[in-house]
Amino acid sequence: MRFHVSLLSATALPSLLHAFPNVPFQTQDRWIVDSKGANFTYVGANWPGAGEVMIPEGLQYQSIASIVSKIKDLKMNHVRLTFAIEMIDDIKERGGDVTIRKAFQKALGSNGDKVYQNVIKNNPQFGASTTRLQLTPRQVFDAIAAELTKQQIYVHLDNHMSKGKWCCGGGDGNTWFGDTDFKVPNWRRGLEFMADYSKKWPNMVSLGLHNELRKPDNAGSSLAYKWATWYDQVIPAADAVNKANPNILIFLSGLDYDTKMSPIATGDDLGNGKKFRLTAFKYKNKVVIELHNYQNSETKCASIESGLWNNGFRATGTVALNKMPVVLTEFGFNQADDSYTKTYATCLKKLMPQWSTGWAVWEIGGSYYIRSGTQDFEETWGLLNHEWSDWRNKNAIGALRGMVDATLKAVV
Ligand SMILES: *[C@@H]1O[C@H](CO)[C@@H](O)[C@H](O)[C@H]1NC(C)=O
Repeated sequence: MRFHVSLLSATALPSLLHAFPNVPFQTQDRWIVDSKGANFTYVGANWPGAGEVMIPEGLQYQSIASIVSKIKDLKMNHVRLTFAIEMIDDIKERGGDVTIRKAFQKALGSNGDKVYQNVIKNNPQFGASTTRLQLTPRQVFDAIAAELTKQQIYVHLDNHMSKGKWCCGGGDGNTWFGDTDFKVPNWRRGLEFMADYSKKWPNMVSLGLHNELRKPDNAGSSLAYKWATWYDQVIPAADAVNKANPNILIFLSGLDYDTKMSPIATGDDLGNGKKFRLTAFKYKNKVVIELHNYQNSETKCASIESGLWNNGFRATGTVALNKMPVVLTEFGFNQADDSYTKTYATCLKKLMPQWSTGWAVWEIGGSYYIRSGTQDFEETWGLLNHEWSDWRNKNAIGALRGMVDATLKAVV
């Protein structure tokens, strides 16, 4: 009996102390802490859901539970779940959220019904009345959040695109505030909607305002591509998200495909006398910087390191004017070859623990319903194979497991 009791307390105690989900999160200088005051480091994968169908990928091949189990198997603690503003436009302006059957038919044409049938075969909780997000009790986004909660994984929502399609190029109409498909009022309404809607998910912790802002190829927007415009557009959107849900962290992303956030870390002049001052925010303990990196062909780790640091990671340093957490919410490489042994992959694997900073790899899945016009598009950068049934490359996954462990160990 005595033996039994001590065995029980030895195993039960840690899980009681760190009961999931311990939300809301907040920031303390450059750290992110949970509601119990323990450090939290984002370690996870992107799960794309902002393509034409606007349903998270992979469900025609696997159940939600099986995909989440794969993420869990890597000991990852969050998913960066991407969505398109068009989904909210449909709800607000086009008679409510559409059923997933219609969404597949619309995006995939004559092939849509076959894919839909495979989705409900793998995920029998869904059916004819299931919608993407809203209005029935069996929506896909809710079901994914519920399964992630069950497996103790957090949700970070990312507004990936305005119009649902593959991201990102300079001519895709989604580049910059006011671009052809990037209407600022719709964007802000969509963010508010998702911030509010996701309140019911126990594991919802943060929201990224916009993926990879970039310079339009042509005169797509009347708003100048510069930091002062960024400031004028991003701050009101962040205010609106904070008002809709004061609990969640807000991830700010930068220029040039979210590779540049330097003046946010340093507080330098953004033009027109505007300066980013974290202390001026009412919700200064909720703001995080996100950066992306795809310097895949770089052969010198020192260049990646100095570039990332100067472009924003310096916010995690001791002398930054605006001391903030920074998360590398996208990086990735071909999983089908030996890229995991090359400078880019090994460098980021070293830097994240070195800086005690979090990350999300692009991406978990092995194929898209449709990407750039091609259906059942093969994603060679995906951690999983085409059918999402097993790892694409066990050696690359072994290396990734090492990155997960080293990152989590770096922060106590
Ligand atoms: C978070 O981790 C850092 C680095 O290990 C440490 O200095 C800091 O005190 C930790 N914060 C908390 C709240 O544990």
